[in-house]
Amino acid sequence: GLAGAAAILPAERIVSALGAKPAQASPAVELFAQKLRIPPVLVRKYRKWGVDYYGVSMREGLAQILPGAKTPIWGYNGQFPGPTFKVEKNRPIKVIQKNKLDKELAVHLHGGNVPSSSDGLPGDEIQPGDTRTYFYPNAQQASTYWYHDHKHGLESFNSYMGLSGYYLLHDWREDRLDLPRGKYDVPLIIQDRFFNDDNSFRLPVPGEFAGDVTLVNGVAHPRFEVERRPYRFRLLNGSSMDGLVDLSLDNGAPLYVIGNDGGLLEKPVPVQHLPIAPSERYDVIVDFSKVALGAKIVLRNAVNFFGNRAEVMRFDVTKKAQGYVHPIPKKLVHLHRLDPKRASKHRTFDLRSNLEVGQMLINGKAFDPARIDIKPKLGATEIWTVRNTEAPELPIPHVFHTHLVQFHILDRDGKPPAAHEAGWKDSVTIEAGSSIRLIMRFGDFTGRYLYHCHLLGHADAGMMAQMEVVR
Ligand code: C2O
Ligand code: CU
Repeated sequence: GLAGAAAILPAERIVSALGAKPAQASPAVELFAQKLRIPPVLVRKYRKWGVDYYGVSMREGLAQILPGAKTPIWGYNGQFPGPTFKVEKNRPIKVIQKNKLDKELAVHLHGGNVPSSSDGLPGDEIQPGDTRTYFYPNAQQASTYWYHDHKHGLESFNSYMGLSGYYLLHDWREDRLDLPRGKYDVPLIIQDRFFNDDNSFRLPVPGEFAGDVTLVNGVAHPRFEVERRPYRFRLLNGSSMDGLVDLSLDNGAPLYVIGNDGGLLEKPVPVQHLPIAPSERYDVIVDFSKVALGAKIVLRNAVNFFGNRAEVMRFDVTKKAQGYVHPIPKKLVHLHRLDPKRASKHRTFDLRSNLEVGQMLINGKAFDPARIDIKPKLGATEIWTVRNTEAPELPIPHVFHTHLVQFHILDRDGKPPAAHEAGWKDSVTIEAGSSIRLIMRFGDFTGRYLYHCHLLGHADAGMMAQMEVVR
């Protein structure tokens, strides 16, 4: 049957609470006027002692986001979105990041199981003009990861200006499955923005928390020509603020969810609509093979923030399938589940704002880079209960994100997670009044890492904390 996701995202409620008009509307965008672009794949510089080296410079650039004038951005290699890393499991890489902007920056590999020194922590910023080399072992599961700026206090601002991109980790297990690959494996990063009349980004003012224009791969409301066959889409909500989306296809066809943030599911799960919070990834297959040639199918977003359009993008079915097409696999991978009985530590985290002081807090505390909040033991399995204890009058959702580890959702308000979110995850939405239990294992690295709300404005406002994994 179709797994609904009804429990997850009554975000309209929040909008009605806060008012949904932008301070200044963006220029009108003609829908589907521009073609979707695929971010370029980053080319390795060289290989030495078994490590692939990549070079990236963070700098200003111009991006064709709207028709007409280009938009000034800050981007990895001056591009928006940044170039896509395509890397192989167990093939480590080093990324030499050069900061050519006039501000401190920190690069974070979201979902990455990496040494603390490569995690982009406060205190490890790259000064203007400097470089820093990040080491990514790639020993974790193949999945859709991404990278973005993590300069403390400016995460939302810097990534709003363009500093984000894909990191696709591939392994041999995927090949065995005959999933759509090559040009049929398409990253789709969804991001909201406001624009000024000259097409430059307009920064949100207080009270605005999601843009009125929706971009896919850095193009406003694009169209994409597809063949009559299944496609794999790496959906990523890369919004910098609170741009929750709830996606569906206007021909009523399901999205087959095949993977979560940290890897593939056991089998494809068809859903009629798919809520995706900022920083979550859903790997999906859409099957255009039963659709007539010439059909135009709109990807819709049911969450209406600040007058944004419901039509995210359009798929134009323009060609017959080329060559042999594998059917959607019935089975994917075996998911190893952690045993709750083996958990050696239980922790509880309350997420709540203090609007009087304008802070958002975890267990009553705002982030302090000098403070270690918890010390998980290397090798330990832990269960975390995370509660959104916001007041019912202002039911703000939070998106809880852990660095370093992937978790399974044990339950949400006592009920098991929906089938399409039962895989490995590093980010999860928790509605006000809700409580969720997560299980995770601290397996690979010691040192400091963050956990925080991934509505990045909330993290900037203090909803972030620090763990130190110890022996
Ligand atoms: Cu997407 Cu702390 O990260
Ligand atoms: Cu939050």
